[in-house]
Amino acid sequence: MDLDQLAALRTPEGSAALDAAARVAGGDPLAAAAALRSAGLPPALAAAALTQAELRRRAVGKFGPAAAGMFLTRAGLEQATRRPVADRRAARLRDAGVRTLADLGCGLGADALAAARVGIRVYGVEADPLTAAMAAANAEAAGLAELFTVECGDATAFDVDRVDGVFCDPARRRAGTGRRIFDPNAYSPPWDFVVGLAERVPYTVVKVAPGIDHALIPAGAEAEWVSADGDLVEAALWCGRLAAVPRRATLLRGGAGRPADASGAAGIPFFQLSGSGDAEAAVGPTRRYVYDPDPAVVRAHLVAELADALDATLADPSIAYLYGDAPAATPFARCLEVTDVLPFSLKRLRALLRDRRVGRVEILKRGSALEPEKLRRDLRLAGDEAASLVLTRVAGAPTVLVCRPVG
Ligand SMILES: C[S@@+](CC[C@H](N)C(=O)[O-])C[C@H]1O[C@@H](n2cnc3c(N)ncnc32)[C@H](O)[C@@H]1O
Repeated sequence: MDLDQLAALRTPEGSAALDAAARVAGGDPLAAAAALRSAGLPPALAAAALTQAELRRRAVGKFGPAAAGMFLTRAGLEQATRRPVADRRAARLRDAGVRTLADLGCGLGADALAAARVGIRVYGVEADPLTAAMAAANAEAAGLAELFTVECGDATAFDVDRVDGVFCDPARRRAGTGRRIFDPNAYSPPWDFVVGLAERVPYTVVKVAPGIDHALIPAGAEAEWVSADGDLVEAALWCGRLAAVPRRATLLRGGAGRPADASGAAGIPFFQLSGSGDAEAAVGPTRRYVYDPDPAVVRAHLVAELADALDATLADPSIAYLYGDAPAATPFARCLEVTDVLPFSLKRLRALLRDRRVGRVEILKRGSALEPEKLRRDLRLAGDEAASLVLTRVAGAPTVLVCRPVG
């Protein structure tokens, strides 16, 4: 896809080609291309429309029905923020009083559109000309072109004195290969520029990889980890006046791929836990119930805060399973009842599962090098019953917990 093809897709003929492509996309690509050509579409337009239609189908999980009107690149879609997460962030910026925002490296505009939807005036800057043109087209398609404008250029040259706040979601994949970048110094815009924004603009938010090293979090910033239906999706640094707590875990639930309502994510249920991020949970023996904390809680280093809330303890200081005597209802962890605690031995585990006629297991693990699928094969399961196996360490020793669901 290039700028000329994008321009062609935005003509009435291109729009008809996109409609036709949407009807045939999702099946055999060769048959779809042949169907479009036999309908009289020029081959180049048919190919471009089909690529967009396939990307739009894939984008529904991130953007909901709005994906059907968006212009997308594969790389831009992979890096884009899913809508409920962008909507929550936008609502928080609006509630903090941000009225004008620079989105430095706005990509296809997923975050910028969310901010515009809550009434924030957004100035997007994007280095890649095609991506910038698509972001502008996406603003127009959403009816937000007056609130979200895009300039193609280098974000590091943007005059941040023009705005109340800045948002930066640096590229963490190499252009061309699409491979992930783990070293923040190789992000684009570069990390020094990104963290330096917080010193220049009182309302700064930076989206970062969920695996970010806590040592990189600027002093005084709030670090928030977000999960959607149990999958860790991102982390964000809320700097300056936006920092409210040292660490926060935000859990979005109930179809986080679903778009939020117009008021800004209010329709998506969410749960939050916050704390210092450096407290340590007490350690004790295994107990009748085991809790598997949500990955956002674990990455935010809030396991001690959760342990307090659940009256639970760790069984190994370095492993984030919590143990309690009662099955407390919590959105922050999954709870299982422990029926057996065994030092890990394949032979003993196989014998126990055979006695119980267990034919199906789910396998959870923390602190174990065992490979779940290999273990499942080695167990040679037979029977009608189901069990959950938790592979872990207890006081340093490899251990398996045989569990069943609570209530
Ligand atoms: C992770 S993506 C942004 C995704 C966006 N937040 C979204 O949800 O759609 C980062 C973008 O920054 C752009 N970029 C990288 N370095 C830049 C720079 N120095 N100036 C402007 N844009 C830049 C990349 O081309 C890429 O599109």
